[in-house]
Amino acid sequence: MNSTQGPLPTPGGRASVIAGARPFGVYVHVPFCRVRCGYCDFNTYTADELGEGATRASYADTAISEIVRSGAERGRRPVETVFFGGGTPTQLPSSDLVRILDAIDDTFGLVDGVEVTTEANPDSVTPESLATLKAGGFTRISFGVQSAVPHVLATLERTHDPANVPQAVRWAREAGFEQLSVDLIYGTPGESMDDWRASLEQAIALEPDHVSAYALIVEQGTAFARKVRRGEVVMPDDDETADKYVLADEMLTAAGLGWYELSNWARDEAAWCRHNVLYWHSDDWLGIGPGAHSHVAGERWWNVKHPAAYAQRLAAGESPRHDGESIDGATARVERIMLETRLRSGLDLSALTAAALAEVPDVVGRGLADVHDDHLVLTRPGRLLADAVVRQLVD
Ligand SMILES: C[S@@+](CC[C@H](N)C(=O)[O-])C[C@H]1O[C@@H](n2cnc3c(N)ncnc32)[C@H](O)[C@@H]1O
Ligand code: SF4
Repeated sequence: MNSTQGPLPTPGGRASVIAGARPFGVYVHVPFCRVRCGYCDFNTYTADELGEGATRASYADTAISEIVRSGAERGRRPVETVFFGGGTPTQLPSSDLVRILDAIDDTFGLVDGVEVTTEANPDSVTPESLATLKAGGFTRISFGVQSAVPHVLATLERTHDPANVPQAVRWAREAGFEQLSVDLIYGTPGESMDDWRASLEQAIALEPDHVSAYALIVEQGTAFARKVRRGEVVMPDDDETADKYVLADEMLTAAGLGWYELSNWARDEAAWCRHNVLYWHSDDWLGIGPGAHSHVAGERWWNVKHPAAYAQRLAAGESPRHDGESIDGATARVERIMLETRLRSGLDLSALTAAALAEVPDVVGRGLADVHDDHLVLTRPGRLLADAVVRQLVD
């Protein structure tokens, strides 16, 4: 084990506060953005793109009607985490986000100590909006910072002025938020190693208790993918991307933020995003909103994608569910290996078949993982080859 990593977290350390129960969370999708970033293919729309039938003004009532409907179908179940994602949830008035949270509480019940996160773009908050969120029960803000470097932000088509980021974080602290996360992207065309170092330095200077850093993915069908195809921008090679991951891990670890999932670092276990941990352990969650996915008791389903179709279904008293599937044992096992291998708490070896178990000595012998308490934990070189390790364990 790398001695700079600190003690290992308890394997699977995310028990429900309800004895014997699987943790349960609610995801609320908010499908609005002021402008669309060229690289993003999330289910989100600008005001111009939306047209009739789905407006920001009516969104909270529509989402609340889905919550009430789900509660009537499924019954009460205490909620341990709520995550508002997007899109840009903070494109809605804070009072609407609080109304949606209240509806979740009224319908399902929020446990004491519930984690309630919203994603936010730095230019979409004010001291007042943040104070409303805090007073309304939100506990955590995740800011989409991406980069501190103007030419990198321009390539990503991000609109915020990097100088406003420290101000947004200060406002959040003044509003009383102790849990603050920063999202970063690395590997944007034209980003030098010094640019990435500057972004990490700025992120660390904000003193967040959590950082997510993702390599830029070229999503087919986006404006950015078209630019890559036309040769207008050139993606970095894998070695450069790997070097940037290592730099992030070194700098964040030195700043007291330890990795707990491949792309996520936190000050301590209390700062983990419990909602994402719930996903990574294939626990149960309900997804509210257009295109939102749910996963409860071995079943997965998803809503119609377009906000207008979603609103029409609910207005007509119909379910917004589009399709779904039961997850059989073999699929669940492969998903568990894919997700738990990415966690610092590691993959429980009991999830492996005899054939996969026979591969473990090779993975360990090549320095890609260690075994602790019957859990396979990736080393840093292993984290760079996580997909290959997973393939070796599931093929
Ligand atoms: C979908 S956004 C929602 C929150 C907010 N709108 C924002 O942009 O920060 C959540 C995160 O996904 C990241 N993301 C979206 N598309 C991505 C891509 N193609 N590659 C890597 N990260 C991506 C965003 O940069 C952001 O940090
Ligand atoms: S990255 Fe965030 S702000 Fe940009 S289009 Fe996607 S959801 Fe909207």
